[in-house]
Amino acid sequence: MSTATLAEPTHPATDPMPKDLNLGKPASADRSFAQSPTQCSLPTHPDAAGQTLPGIDRIVLTGFMGSGKTSTGRLLAEHLGWRFLDLDHEIEARQHRSVPQIFSEDGEPHFRHLESAALASLLGQRQVVIALGGGAPEELGNRLLLEQTPHTAVIYLSASFEVLVSRCTAQAADPSATARPNLADLNLAERRFHLRHPHYQRIATHSIETAERTPGEVAEAILARLRSAVPATGQQGSR
Ligand code: S3P
Repeated sequence: MSTATLAEPTHPATDPMPKDLNLGKPASADRSFAQSPTQCSLPTHPDAAGQTLPGIDRIVLTGFMGSGKTSTGRLLAEHLGWRFLDLDHEIEARQHRSVPQIFSEDGEPHFRHLESAALASLLGQRQVVIALGGGAPEELGNRLLLEQTPHTAVIYLSASFEVLVSRCTAQAADPSATARPNLADLNLAERRFHLRHPHYQRIATHSIETAERTPGEVAEAILARLRSAVPATGQQGSR
């Protein structure tokens, strides 16, 4: 059994707001919460078959930019022996362009259209951990799709706006990080954060506060919740 190496958050909630506006998304999960590595106690699943969770075929991670969806999702998938799918990466692979390019060339509404199409196709898969983009739950169609896809655990990774921006600022220091167009204007980003929060809450089957946790600790907390859940019956899967 191997263990994954993690990075833990370095910016406390009291960090000042950054002046730098190129707040990026990490290219790799291990860099996402920043520099000081720590061991994750979650073992990697050795079998090709993957583990089973009661009544759950897929785990979807939602939350604002910087909430740790990608880094936590990779760890969860590795531990379960499931596949990890990042919605932004899926869109980029289909488009052969980066998310910032799509925003600047075609605008956000077109990006949202691509995002909805990609989400619908990813939700058809089993034994997958899916990291959504932070804005996906703004679209009513995406929320309905998530709510109506059976055997789907939707996990809201929450933190304060200040913590999230601090993490994004730390991630943007990595030259390989992808820029986040919707953090260019922090006032607007904060308004979006407050607008989205109730959507994240409503679609979530479980919410996990992440401010004081590393991605590994968040992954452990998610697994503990899902393993203790009563196996679901009927259409609404894990709800
Ligand atoms: C966005 C979040 C990004 C990406 C795009 C827009 C948003 O994903 O989809 O830049 O509007 O919140 P992450 O939440 O993974 O950074």
